[in-house]
This record gives sequence, C-alpha cells and structure tokens, in this order.
Amino acid sequence: MARPQKILVVFGTRPEAIKLFPLVAALRADPRFVPVVCVSAQHRQMLDQVLEIAGIVPDHDLDLMRPDQTLDSLTAALLTELGKVMDAEKPDRVMVQGDTATAIAGALAAYYRKIPADHVEAGLRSGNIYHPWPEEVNRKIIGSIASLHFAPTEVSAAALRAENVPEARVHVTGNTVIDALQWVTERIREAPQLASGLAELEQRFAGKRIIGVTTHRRENFGGGMENIAEAIRQIAARGDVAVIFPVHLNPNVRAVMNTALGDLANVALIEPLDYPHFAHLLSLAEIMLTDSGGVQEEAPALGKPVLVMRETTERPEGVAAGTARLVGTETSVIVTELFTLLDDKAAYESMARAHNPFGDGQSARRIVELLANEVGCQA
Ligand code: UD1
Ligand code: UDP
Repeated sequence: MARPQKILVVFGTRPEAIKLFPLVAALRADPRFVPVVCVSAQHRQMLDQVLEIAGIVPDHDLDLMRPDQTLDSLTAALLTELGKVMDAEKPDRVMVQGDTATAIAGALAAYYRKIPADHVEAGLRSGNIYHPWPEEVNRKIIGSIASLHFAPTEVSAAALRAENVPEARVHVTGNTVIDALQWVTERIREAPQLASGLAELEQRFAGKRIIGVTTHRRENFGGGMENIAEAIRQIAARGDVAVIFPVHLNPNVRAVMNTALGDLANVALIEPLDYPHFAHLLSLAEIMLTDSGGVQEEAPALGKPVLVMRETTERPEGVAAGTARLVGTETSVIVTELFTLLDDKAAYESMARAHNPFGDGQSARRIVELLANEVGCQA
C-alpha cells in the first residue's frame, strides 16, 4: 500500500471550521491519510467555539487575529506564517475552504512551494468583484491555483468550467456544511443540553414570533449596517415579534447594533452562539434575516425562509429553490419583505419548504474518495 498522504488542512474563521470539521474527521478515520490541522486563528473566540464542539486540537495555531485587523496586515502575516508551517510539515497536499483571507493565503503559500492545493466549496461566483468583497476575488484566485476543485453544486461546477478549469479537475460533491448541520442536529438529539442555553430567552419571548438575525459583511459596513439596524428597530416595533441576534465580534458590526438596538425589550443582542445553539436558533426562528453565506445554505435544508441582506448572491440555488430571497440593505425593502412573510400565510408557506440544493450530508466522504483516487490510494 502507498504511504499515507499528509494533508495540511488550513482554516481560520468560524465558517471554514464548520465546513471543514467533517472533512478532518473523515480524513482522520481513513488510514490512507494523515491530516495535519493548521489554524491561522484569523478569528479567535468564534473559531474556538467550533474547534471545541468538533473536538479538534490544532497541530498548529498561528493566533493571528488582531482587533479590527486590516486585510493588508492580516494577509501578509498569513502568507508568511502559513509558508513556515508548510516548510516544517512538508505536506503532500494542502486543503483550503471557501474564500477567506486564510484560504487565499493558504493556496498561495502552497503554490509558491509547488504543493497541490485542493479547494473545498469551489466555483461560487457572484460576478461582481465588490460583492462580496474581497471574497469574490479571493475565490477566483484560489480557483486559478487549485489542483482539485470540489464544487458544491452543478451551478458552481459550471462556473469553473466557464473559466476553463479542466473538466477532470472539477467534482460536484455537495457542500460539507450540510454534513456539519446533520452531525450537530444528531448530537443535539442525543444530548439536548448541548443547545439548552437559549431556554431563558425562549421563556422571555414565549408566544412571540422569533426572527433570527446575523450580519457581518464588509460591503455592508457603514450605511448598510445602519439601514439594517433601522429595519430591525421597525420590525421590533411590532408587539408580536421578538428578534434574537447573535452579534458578530467584528467591531464594525457591534458598535452600530449596540447603539441602535441596545434599548429594545424584544430584541436580544447576544454573543455569538456555538454551533449547537445556532442550529437550535435556526429551528426556533420563523424567519432568518441575514447576510451570511453559510446561513443561506443551512436555512433551505431546514425549510426556514431566509431574507438575504445582500445585493447579489453567489448561492443562487437557495433563491431558485424558493427558500431564500435577496432583499438588499434598504430599510424599507427589508421591513416590507419581512412583514409580508409574517402577515401573508401563503407567501410564508411558499418559502417554508425544506430543500437540500447544497448537499446531502455525504460531501466529506465523497471528497476523501476523490482525493484517494487522485493520489492513487485505493480503499
Ligand atoms: C471573515 C472573512 C469572511 C467570512 C467571515 C465569517 C475575510 C477577508 N473575511 O470576515 O469571508 O464571511 O470571516 O465570519 O477573510 N473578531 C473577534 N473575535 C473573533 C472573530 C472576529 O474579535 O472570534 C473581530 C476582530 O476585531 C477582527 C474582526 O472581528 O479583527 C474582523 O475579523 P476578520 O476575520 O478580519 O473579518 P470578518 O469580518 O470576520
Ligand atoms: N453561526 C454560528 N453561531 C452564530 C452565527 C452563525 O455557529 O452565532 C454559524 C452558522 O450556522 C453558519 C456559519 O456560522 O454555519 C456562518 O458564519 P458567518 O455568517 O460568520 O460567515 P459566512 O458563512 O458568511 O462566511
């Protein structure tokens, strides 16, 4: 049997950790591979929440988060420090996910060493380099470097082919976020106390219709965030709703939301939730209001209508499936769309159907087999 392949799995933010923990587990369980985990810790607390629930102790922790870090300083530090880890570990392959600063630096550092870099969640495109910014360019650059491209859907695979990525390098695998969501749902079913921390809020808001909110996109900083805050104020003016809003730790989000919403009785601004509690919030909420990428993927799987506060989306599958709707960041549009869902039963029912356009929960297993084929290790 060929020697086990050393795969350096690189990530740094909350969503990357959620989408890569199923792969780390699948690689660990397979004798053909030796996964080595390197976290940049571009996020700290929000990353650690996922590492803890997933039971991952990183082999390398670069601890690179700085308060309100700039893209320049973060990316420069990532490239230098990830390169050092690659020189020390000499992996056979590097694995990156998505489109963050950590992902592009990981792919680039691998390329500088001529180590094949494989891309999980490849081929997402909005067609606008400033929406989302800087992720659209990050993932295009990763796409031009990557060896294997693991596209979550046919739509993302087609985008890669249109950019002349060779057909044989593109594989439709589904998105590992569905593996993660199924895993955490099962953990909560076995041990409900993993997600019992919202009980007090549930009691406080008993009888109210719960709206779950998250927001953090850089392109929404400034005016966009203020509009979103004003929309939530207007929504909360209704006595029949309550808003549960785990606020991202980015200071550009927190400052606006604390000032605008800190005094409202039926708005709970809370700390970021760990993954089991967030999954529980998804199940409690009647509607999700978000600019998150991952939440756009999870909500359809649970049949939760999701209003997406962005101008464009690189995840059109949720919109096509009818569970997601783009509402932008104009206050009046957000409020009108949300009130329509609250007041028009037919409009709500037409969105509230469970679909799995993003995967079937088997993505990590598929990716591991594709990797094994690539390196010539048969089961
Ligand atoms: C990053 C990703 C974005 C992803 C998002 C997920 C880039 C360029 N952006 O954006 O693609 O959608 O993560 O959430 O890679 N902070 C903390 N503690 C934490 C996490 C963040 O205090 O655990 C604060 C810090 O002040 C940090 C700031 O948030 O400087 C911004 O973090 P950063 O990773 O640069 O950007 P995000 O906006 O989180
Ligand atoms: N999430 C979480 N706790 C929270 C908010 C979100 O665990 O308080 C999870 C959510 O389920 C999804 C992921 O974080 O899987 C999305 O991360 P984020 O919105 O920060 O980034 P994006 O997906 O937009 O890159």
